[in-house]
Amino acid sequence: MHVLLPELDREARAPLAAQIAGFYVRAIDEGRMRVGDRLPPIRTIASACDVTRATVQDAYKQLADQGLVEGAVGRGTTVLPQKHAAGAGPVASARTLSPYAEAALRRSQDMVGAPPLPPGTPLVANFAELAPDAERFPVDAWRGAMDAVLQQRGAELLGYGYAHNGLPELRAMLAERSREIDPTLTGDDVLVTAGAQQALDLVLRTFCAGGDTVVVAAPCYHQMHGLLRAHGLNVVPVPFTAQGLDLAQLERALVRRQARLVYLTPTFHNPTGRTLDLAQRRALLEIVGRTGTPIVEDEYQTSLRTRGEPLPTLRSLDPRGLTVTVSTVSKDLFPGLRIGWIAGSQDLLRPMAAVKRFMDLETSPLLQAALVEFVRNGHFDRYLTALRGELRLRHAALQDACRAQLPAGCSVTDPDGGFVAWLELPEPGHGERLADLAADRGVRVVPGRLFDLHGLPSRGVRLSLTRADRQQIHNGVAVLAAQCRALLAAPVPGRAFV
Ligand SMILES: Cc1ncc(COP(=O)(O)O)c(C=O)c1O
Repeated sequence: MHVLLPELDREARAPLAAQIAGFYVRAIDEGRMRVGDRLPPIRTIASACDVTRATVQDAYKQLADQGLVEGAVGRGTTVLPQKHAAGAGPVASARTLSPYAEAALRRSQDMVGAPPLPPGTPLVANFAELAPDAERFPVDAWRGAMDAVLQQRGAELLGYGYAHNGLPELRAMLAERSREIDPTLTGDDVLVTAGAQQALDLVLRTFCAGGDTVVVAAPCYHQMHGLLRAHGLNVVPVPFTAQGLDLAQLERALVRRQARLVYLTPTFHNPTGRTLDLAQRRALLEIVGRTGTPIVEDEYQTSLRTRGEPLPTLRSLDPRGLTVTVSTVSKDLFPGLRIGWIAGSQDLLRPMAAVKRFMDLETSPLLQAALVEFVRNGHFDRYLTALRGELRLRHAALQDACRAQLPAGCSVTDPDGGFVAWLELPEPGHGERLADLAADRGVRVVPGRLFDLHGLPSRGVRLSLTRADRQQIHNGVAVLAAQCRALLAAPVPGRAFV
């Protein structure tokens, strides 16, 4: 039998026992270990990974505490059935979780972002947060919009709105504002959701069943990984690199795995900031056209373009009507509104609207109406223009600093907008090492491992520019460049096993 052994990163902050436990959690989650499979004997892992038996025992205890495995004398440690499975026991406990909740719980414990600064370390630059900078929010203008709509139609807006697809005036407005990238979109093709995250969940709930395969551009937005796992879907990653999306690999995955969906972020991709150019958009549509596969495109910050012409959405280029576009105001306005939307042909929106209705009845009519008012008064565009201007300067500052300071062998993406860029080093594992070393010196970055489907060591780190002004970018890159040089001078330790 093939023995699955964890690969440990000795320089990472995560304790070795947690790394071992995390490895087997993912193996169980992803179906590489099944019910009844035996975990390797403690001594095997201890000797293969060069750790003490107590460390492995601790890892196995963590797995047992989560109800994933059971140890028995003479039988070793085996994978348990999920508690909900038929025949698992006569009476489900009141605390028995659904498969969705179990997977969500495991994934949320598994997501480790930017390492914190050690106590007392002064902050040099925060490149970690993807949320927009709250200091810039036009709070008074928003309050004005809320006051205005409450005054005009307060009683109505504080009741149920019975507009399950969203307020018609907001849907028409969102379609109008998307005209440049999706010229034929109308309000009838828009379904308002609680942010892009609910929209993504809604697509999966409506069109996928557990065990289906979804192809994603990798690296991939980590909360989408969590969501795909929670839905019990098999995920096939296809590399999205400096050369673009690997379309040959994508086609092979679609054909061999009979994928149900493709998910990608074609513009200012999270975490790399890359954008799929027009030729690649067309080529992708030709491929999915041959296999009949629908696409979910996540245009989470497309209006934050700082240079170049806007690119058409995949939806607008898809003659089949089998692409849906997920959008949000979380990045170009406030995430606290929890307003996003799905654009798609009406035959796709209808079942999604029915599913959503039973999830939340509707998205807040009050907040939708205030958003319409805020846009009509020009506040949204004023805020957006200022934000884009600042982002343009910050991206330029990042490129200048990286050009001047990064050592050979390291590179940074040069996005046409959005909040993020991706700094890459030569070896897998360098990303996590850099994140730890930078934190010790006051710089916060998110290690690339978070965006890897299997949580494997990464070459890169994500740099977000929402919280770092130009001076902090300059100083932060100086720290990162010095640590890159240190890393290139020393091999990455602790990567001996597969
Ligand atoms: C790629 C991507 N999609 C979707 C979302 C979720 O956005 P929302 O706040 O609209 O739910 C995020 C949030 O960071 C994101 O990065």
